[in-house]
Amino acid sequence: MNSDASIWNSLPVPAFIIDEQDRISDVNAAGEGFLNASRKSVIGHPVWDQIAVDAPLEEAFERARWQGTPLFVNDVDVGSGSRAPLQCALQIAPLVGHPGSMIMIISPRELAGRMTRGNTVKSAAQSAIGMAEMLAHEIKNPLAGITGAAQLLSMNIPPQDLELTDLIVAESRRIVKLLEQVEQFGNLQKPDFKPVNIHDVLDRARRSALLGFGADMTIIEDYDPSLPLAYGDPDQFLQVVLNLLKNASEAAGPQGGTIRLRTYFEHSFRLRRSDGSGHSLPLQIEIIDDGPGLPEDIRGDIFDPFVSGRENGTGLGLALVSKIISDHDGWISAESVPGRTVFELSLRRAPRDAIEDKKEST
Ligand SMILES: Nc1ncnc2c1ncn2[C@@H]1O[C@H](COP(=O)(O)OP(=O)(O)OP(=O)(O)O)[C@@H](O)[C@H]1O
Ligand SMILES: [Mg+2]
Repeated sequence: MNSDASIWNSLPVPAFIIDEQDRISDVNAAGEGFLNASRKSVIGHPVWDQIAVDAPLEEAFERARWQGTPLFVNDVDVGSGSRAPLQCALQIAPLVGHPGSMIMIISPRELAGRMTRGNTVKSAAQSAIGMAEMLAHEIKNPLAGITGAAQLLSMNIPPQDLELTDLIVAESRRIVKLLEQVEQFGNLQKPDFKPVNIHDVLDRARRSALLGFGADMTIIEDYDPSLPLAYGDPDQFLQVVLNLLKNASEAAGPQGGTIRLRTYFEHSFRLRRSDGSGHSLPLQIEIIDDGPGLPEDIRGDIFDPFVSGRENGTGLGLALVSKIISDHDGWISAESVPGRTVFELSLRRAPRDAIEDKKEST
């Protein structure tokens, strides 16, 4: 066994060897995954054509090369031709025994970020929602009274004042609608876990979107047909996908756009908790749209309740999505640049005994 090669390809982070003319002279398996290209197709190509780093690196890079010192760059956006930029840390060092050559390791921060964000999303969402549910309950009754009173008033006032009572009625209706959405959270049951064919869920969501809010959209299916069954509540999964499709359709606006539903299997994806426990989340579902992207100012908070970038948005869609996914011990993350927004879900695979039970019962 060639141990150098096996170490090189076992490194779980993308790594590149760059020659003295800034061409890629080697790339490990994770690097191929990062570029979404084969080793053969990138070797010999200028590295900065393949990897776009959003920072003025040249000078520091040259210095590191000729002084033989390592270079560390934190928190830079690194992109490659086919994917949205990811926030990464770069570690660059001269390659011992090969003057002028450098090794560069890219550690995407995304995975680390995803792991820690989930818990905070869950607890922040829960406390805000608990509060909101209580308020919703308290506000609905007096609001019905206000609406009723405005309607009574409108019968006896001069026509030019009708605008005012109409406003009261319309605004009250809007608040009632918001409160009903808040209550939807409270009504969310614990998931009824069973083996679920995710492609059935995606199909149902797709068809209902095309008949309603997504009538102007093109929805493309890009499924891995060998994807195993997921484990969870099919109705809740449907709610998740519908919410994501609805957001993408709303972001696209009346001129429409394209949504791609992609599934694939990634057995190495694991959820690790701070207490050291964890489990595998091998089913990946991506909902990719070509709309304008997440608004800059709310990008970091979209999973929090009441955060909305839309006029008339309540900001509860993604909070609900994130609650459902965390009730399923799954993971959700978002990546967005104008023209490409990806919501990625990672779910558990159905355990074998659950699948056997299902077979027996049908
Ligand atoms: N695919 C997307 N493209 C662009 N922006 C998005 C996308 N998905 C979500 N957003 C942004 O994230 C915000 C929060 O979404 P969320 O679904 O939580 O709330 P909402 O859509 O505003 O309201 P609600 O879903 O409760 O009606 C949206 O208002 C929108 O600005
Ligand atoms: Mg929404």
